Amino acid sequence: MKPNAKIEFGDFQTPLALAQGVCSLLLQQGVEADTVLEPTCGVGAFLNAAAKVFPKARLLGWDINRDYVEQTKLALKHSGAGKRASIGVQDFFAHDWETELAVIHGSILVLGNLPWVTNATVSGMNGSNLPTKENFQGLRGIEARTGKSNFDISEWMLIRLVKALRGRSATIAILCKTGTARKLLRFAWQNDGRIAAASLYRIDAKKHFGASVDACLLLATTGEAGLAEAKVFDRLSAKRASTTLGLAGQDLVFDIRTYRRLKHLEGLCPYQWRSGVKHDCASVMELRRTNGRALENKLGEQVSIEPDYLFPLLKCSDLANGRLEPERFVVVTQRRVGDDTSGIAKAAPRTWRYLQSHSKLFDARKSSIYSSRMPFALFGIGDYSFVPWKVAVSGLHRTPRFALIGPVDEKPVLFDDTCYFVPFQDEHEARVVSEILNSEECKEFLTSLTFTDSKRPITVELLQRLNIRALAEDAGLADEWAASRNRGVHYSEQPVSMQAELVMERPLKH
Ligand SMILES: C[S@@+](CC[C@H](N)C(=O)[O-])C[C@H]1O[C@@H](n2cnc3c(N)ncnc32)[C@H](O)[C@@H]1O
Repeated sequence: MKPNAKIEFGDFQTPLALAQGVCSLLLQQGVEADTVLEPTCGVGAFLNAAAKVFPKARLLGWDINRDYVEQTKLALKHSGAGKRASIGVQDFFAHDWETELAVIHGSILVLGNLPWVTNATVSGMNGSNLPTKENFQGLRGIEARTGKSNFDISEWMLIRLVKALRGRSATIAILCKTGTARKLLRFAWQNDGRIAAASLYRIDAKKHFGASVDACLLLATTGEAGLAEAKVFDRLSAKRASTTLGLAGQDLVFDIRTYRRLKHLEGLCPYQWRSGVKHDCASVMELRRTNGRALENKLGEQVSIEPDYLFPLLKCSDLANGRLEPERFVVVTQRRVGDDTSGIAKAAPRTWRYLQSHSKLFDARKSSIYSSRMPFALFGIGDYSFVPWKVAVSGLHRTPRFALIGPVDEKPVLFDDTCYFVPFQDEHEARVVSEILNSEECKEFLTSLTFTDSKRPITVELLQRLNIRALAEDAGLADEWAASRNRGVHYSEQPVSMQAELVMERPLKH
């Protein structure tokens, strides 16, 4: 085996107990299987479990790894199922799935666990375990053609299988990342993939695979198009679904039933949501007061600079936890994107010297957006950043908590780029809007749209969909909001699309 082969081949063998748990669930659900097909069977946990639960079924299994194929054959032989099994070496990507499926008669169960690896990881290690370029195009459309997309190999394989199955009835029971299951369903629902019914059963991937990902059993029946909805169960043994996800227009939503009930709250937000300031140099740009009241940066250096370019700062965890009195400051080198920063040298020489002394850290900023920009350049900055009143929310927390933030020591408070906000000149309007946004209906509506495993559940695009008028009416604040409205100031220097790009460029850690 090549070094790193385990990574390239997304090799996480399913423990037998988990495969047995999945097969018992299939039995309980009344799934029938004249043929069980394991597309990447590994050492055969699923085929062995299925051999017991479906004692008459033909067992078909393929894997690219010859040793695994031999182990599977042997295990099935020992369990007495060898005669009804055909196990062989096959590269999934080269396999003619249409031909194979066409000659299988009776009910089919496609069962297993596909490789857990992304195309970017495989390419990054100069691996070859990928679909060919032509196949990318057929299945992934424009994203693939531009070479931009990063996707899970298992997503590609699932789409390939659903395409090959189209038109005939079968059951799919595949372990995968929850995000992959959703993408497959979205693809099928949007492209006549003929999914008759689907559900997701969460599994504990840490416990079973030692992997910190949100994973599930995707259980779907193909053949005819059904409702674009899937019940989500929190465990394999759960009797009741915790939510029902579904397709609403072009988007998948977390809780389709709540979404439908509150759909009237969707519209065009009359306010322009902004993202906070982006500098990618927190060790230098973010300062805190020590006990002795001196300023200190994240490198542990005491910093003595003029107050002119310093602004109070709140971060997403502050907003989410209601810590609304800023304990940090941020050095703000520009009033607008692209401003000349050289003036700082004269206006605040100690600030300039401080920045210059760390210029290497600024030069090392990875994002391409900083190349050919002014030294110490920022993004997510404009006149709107310096407006006194703001209603702000964390982008990284799923339960939205909208905070009303006013100036501190006559300086406007800024946010980092994990936060979103609307600026207001007028305190009263900001107060009314924060009350409207904190209404139960608004929270419920936003939560119905966002997935628990999403790294940035709240986005500008989502916030821009809030129909404040409808929300105000539901919250009994319509008159108050209308009366406060005319005093608001709207800023539009930076188009939303630019902000969206910035959000996407940021590496997500949470
Ligand atoms: C996540 S493991 C799961 C194995 C097995 N399905 C199970 O549940 O235990 C993924 C399997 O896919 C196999 N594999 C990876 N790339 C493949 C390819 N291109 N064609 C066929 N099998 C492949 C690996 O050898 C590995 O056994």
